[in-house]
Order: sequence, then C-alpha cells, then structure tokens
Amino acid sequence: MEKLKILFAVVLSLGTASAATLGVVQTEGGSVQGQNIPLGLFRSVDVFKGIPFAAKPGTLEKPQPHPGWEGVLKATKFAQRCLQISMLQTSSFGSEDCLYLNIWVPQGRQVSSDLPVMIWFYGGGFLVGGSMGANFLNNYLYSGQEIADRGDVIVVSVGYRVGTLGFLSTGDSALPGNYGLWDQHAAIAWVHRNILSFGGDPDNITLFGESAGGASVSFQSLSPHNKGLVRRAISQSGVAFCPWAMTKNPRKVADQVAEKVGCPTDDRMVACLKSIDAHTLTMAVPRIKQGSPDYPGVMNLLMSPVVDGDFLPDQPANLFHNSADIDYLAGVNDMDGHLFTAQDIPSVGNKNEETPVEDLRRLLASYTKEFGQVGLEVAFAEYTSNWGSAPSQDTIKRTAVDIGTDFIFLVPAQFAIYLHADNARSGRTFTYMLSEPSLLAGPGKPYHDWVGSDHADDLQYVFGKPFTTPKAYGDRHRDLSGYMIAYWTNFARTGDPNKGNLKVPAIWPEFTSGGHPFLEINSKMNESSIRQEMRLRFVRLWTSILPSLQSDAVTDAQ
Ligand SMILES: *[C@@H]1O[C@H](CO)[C@@H](O)[C@H](O)[C@H]1NC(C)=O
Ligand SMILES: *[C@@H]1O[C@H](CO)[C@@H](O)[C@H](O)[C@H]1NC(C)=O
Repeated sequence: MEKLKILFAVVLSLGTASAATLGVVQTEGGSVQGQNIPLGLFRSVDVFKGIPFAAKPGTLEKPQPHPGWEGVLKATKFAQRCLQISMLQTSSFGSEDCLYLNIWVPQGRQVSSDLPVMIWFYGGGFLVGGSMGANFLNNYLYSGQEIADRGDVIVVSVGYRVGTLGFLSTGDSALPGNYGLWDQHAAIAWVHRNILSFGGDPDNITLFGESAGGASVSFQSLSPHNKGLVRRAISQSGVAFCPWAMTKNPRKVADQVAEKVGCPTDDRMVACLKSIDAHTLTMAVPRIKQGSPDYPGVMNLLMSPVVDGDFLPDQPANLFHNSADIDYLAGVNDMDGHLFTAQDIPSVGNKNEETPVEDLRRLLASYTKEFGQVGLEVAFAEYTSNWGSAPSQDTIKRTAVDIGTDFIFLVPAQFAIYLHADNARSGRTFTYMLSEPSLLAGPGKPYHDWVGSDHADDLQYVFGKPFTTPKAYGDRHRDLSGYMIAYWTNFARTGDPNKGNLKVPAIWPEFTSGGHPFLEINSKMNESSIRQEMRLRFVRLWTSILPSLQSDAVTDAQ
C-alpha cells in the first residue's frame, strides 16, 4: 500500500514536472489563464476557452475593440454561441455577446514557441452554428485538441454572428451587411496581434473552415482587409462562388425582415431595425421551407455575405489579386450534395422508393432556370449522356446526387481553384476530393451502398473523432483521420501538405504542376490516389457553356 502510494506520487510528480504549461498569459485586453490537460508523459495541451476578441457588438454594427479587464480572466468556460434560430425555427438561443475565441496549445517538455496557427470557422449556412462546446449531446465536434496534439499546431476557434444579426443588408451604405465577416476578420487580427504570447507564429496563420465556414475562409482570403495577416487558407466544401454563399438581392430580404418586425421600408427602416431587440430580429429571418425539385432547399439560404464595397470591394472573381501570396487548399466531398438532394427528392435517399427521371429533370430545371429551356436541355443531355436506353435506379439516383454536388459545391470550388492558380504569385494551390464511404451506407444501414462522403463527413476526420471516440469507428477511419490531420497541419506548417512533421500516404501535387491534379482522399489511399481535372466536363458546363447561352439569350432579346 505504502509502496503504491510512493509510486503514485512519483508518477504524479513526473507528470507535472514534465508537463510544460503556459500558466497566465498576457494579452492586449488583460491576462488570461486556461487549463492544462495532460495527454501522456511529456505531452499536454493548454486550453483557453472564452477569450473575448472584441466587445459585445451593437445590433447591426461592426465589431469594436474589447475594453479589457482587470485581474486574471479564468478562460476555462466556453462563451455562448452567437444568437441564432433553433433547429425547429420556433425559438432562438445564444447571445449577442458572442465574440469570443478558444485556443489549444500543444506542449511538450518545454513550453512551445513559433508554432503554426490554424483558425477554424464553423459552418451552418451563415444562419446557425457555433464552436463553443458540445454541438450534439456530449460530442464537441470542433474540439481543437487532436489536431493541436497530433500536428503540433495551435488551433483557434472563433464565434461570429449569423442570421439577421450577422448578415442583414440593404445592399447599400445604409446597412452594408457582412457583420459576421467583420467579426471573423476581427478575430484574425486579434490572433495576429496576440498569438505570440501563446507560443504561436503570427506570420504562419492558416484559416480553415467547412461549408459556410469554407466560404468564409474564401471571403477572408479575398478581402483586402486581411492583407499581411493570413498566410494560408483551407476551404472544405464551401467557397465564395457557391450559389448560397452570397445574397444577390439583399434589399428584398431586408424589406421582408422589416415587414415581419413592423418596421417601415422607407428611409426610416434602418434606424427602426437597429432599435428592434436581437431575439425578434433573429426570429425574423425568412422561414426555411422544405425543399422540393421545384424549390431546392439550398435556395432558402438568403442571409449571406454581400458585395459591400468595403470588406468585399467587388465581386469575388475580381478580388483574387488579394490572395496572390496566400497558399490555398480547397476541395469537396464526392457526394456533398447527397444530404440536400435527398431532401429535395426524398426517394433519392430511400432504398425502397424509385426516383422518377421527371424529378431529376425538375431539379435540374430549378438549377438552370437563368439559362432558360435551352440551358435545361443542354445540361440534361450532358448529365444523362452515359445512361444508355434503360438506366438503372442506382444510375438515376447517383446522377441526381451528382447534379446537387456539382451545383452546390464542386463546380464553385473548382472555379475558385482555377482563379487562385491563375492569379497566384507566391501562393500555391492544392485541391482534393474526399471519397470515403458514408458510415450510414451499406447493407442494413439507411443509405444506399454507393453513398460516398456526404456533406460534413469530412469534419469527423479532420477533428480526429476516430481517435477520441474509438468505439464509433474502425481502424481504417483512424488511418483516414491521421492522413487528413497530416496533410492539413503540414500545409499549415510549410504551405505544402506533403512536408512537415507528419508522414503522408501519397504525394499531393500542386494544381499547377500540369494536368490539373487533385488528391482523392480516403482510408485506402496510396501513391496512386492522384487524379486529374476534377469533373472537368461539368465544370465547363456550369462555368462556360451555360453562361454563354445566357449571354446569347440577352443578345437575342436586345
Ligand atoms: C512559418 O514556419 C516555417 C516552419 O517553421 C518557417 O520556416 C517560416 O519561416 C515561418 N514563417 C513564415 C512566414 O512562413
Ligand atoms: C492502391 O490502392 C488501390 C485501391 O485500393 C489498389 O488497387 C492498388 O493496387 C494500390 N496500389 C499500390 C501501388 O499499392
């Protein structure tokens, strides 16, 4: 017993003696103290939760600097997420006071210094989302701990405003919008000014994000306001060109919101809107309707960034000179559109129901609306060109998913990749497609056997869930998670996903190295996982052939 006690004491003191920790850290607003989590002998992570990077923002105003605090801020509790509608759209939750960030700093025998820094932006369609603790039950999806520990990088996650409070805009200087993007920028600038005291290298900041977070990364890298602050950027399943990433007619949406909350829609509108309480404004977001082939769900997303003449001085396609020295890595999941298409056409996701070709045609008609009847025929012919005379149900359903994936995610991502490569100076360009089969696919499971990586499937692998919750995964998922963390953190460290602290299973060529290569990522990958020209036929269809029909139509009409 006594021996055991001594042994225990030795182990404990060894543990504490070996665990370097930052202790109290000085920031521009005051000092903060986090918590040191031991992860093994000579290994720990310092976690700081709920550090304010800006003051509580005024309603529909840009963020302002935080006034600072006296004494030591105990940074051991997450802040609230930004005020947002609930899943059922019947209530709101969160707080207006939400401009906080969390930091994970890996430690070895000595306190770390000069570490690369990765800043995470959550997704949620610019309407919802948060990185402040558990997303679902006890599972904190966005914990930075695995990435920080395995990749030896600092991970930061930030809160930014969403929904009406984040993105309501009149499309002019009265109410320019983009408040959520200004929040993100304020967080980036804070990290740049303060991360040195946490052991980070302010000149090695990488942004990463998924879905609306991926599009956010794209906007931040294109804005002139982040010049000199950001070194690299990773967009997962979302870029500025996604059809949901920008609101085309913000004034119309603002009028609808004003009417809902009882504000006039004339020149008194903005003053009135700013006087409405935050909960009421949040609830006034246009209602999300169940999608259908004639009204695809993605068209519900109306509270997004706008060209405001300031944060985004011009259309994104004209801003790539601002990211010419930023290394950019962007990609998609091979069935990113599955989640959405299976809601618009429920039979697509149902093993026991047939999908009529007519539904697929209607979906395509919705997506090609601006290109008229000719556009629909051209697109339909392209998508069905290898169908033969009697396509199987699987063929029809997979084509529906391809249409959704191409339109909502893949083609916009490739468009961004081509533009980045064309405009780059020192910045490198890399692109990927994740093709790991869905955990919900297969015999006895809800999805068809052929369902690959659905929207958001990448998150669990990037955040190392197969390691933190091993029972829910197999060894191959741990392999895949290790690969993704290796590529991502190597990229953050060196600008090249192949070079850094961690070994990778295949050399990922730069997009510009000839043949427009991309990396196919999955648990079975090896040296032959390099492919070329991601869905080029369909990239051409959506970015060149269909738009040329539209200009023909305009010319005809004149
Ligand atoms: C970033 O980190 C790498 C590797 O530690 C280092 O060589 C480089 O000088 C750092 N700074 C920049 C600006 O890349
Ligand atoms: C790479 O993986 C593929 C698919 O699993 C396999 O067919 C091929 O033999 C592997 N190639 C090498 C070089 O290991």
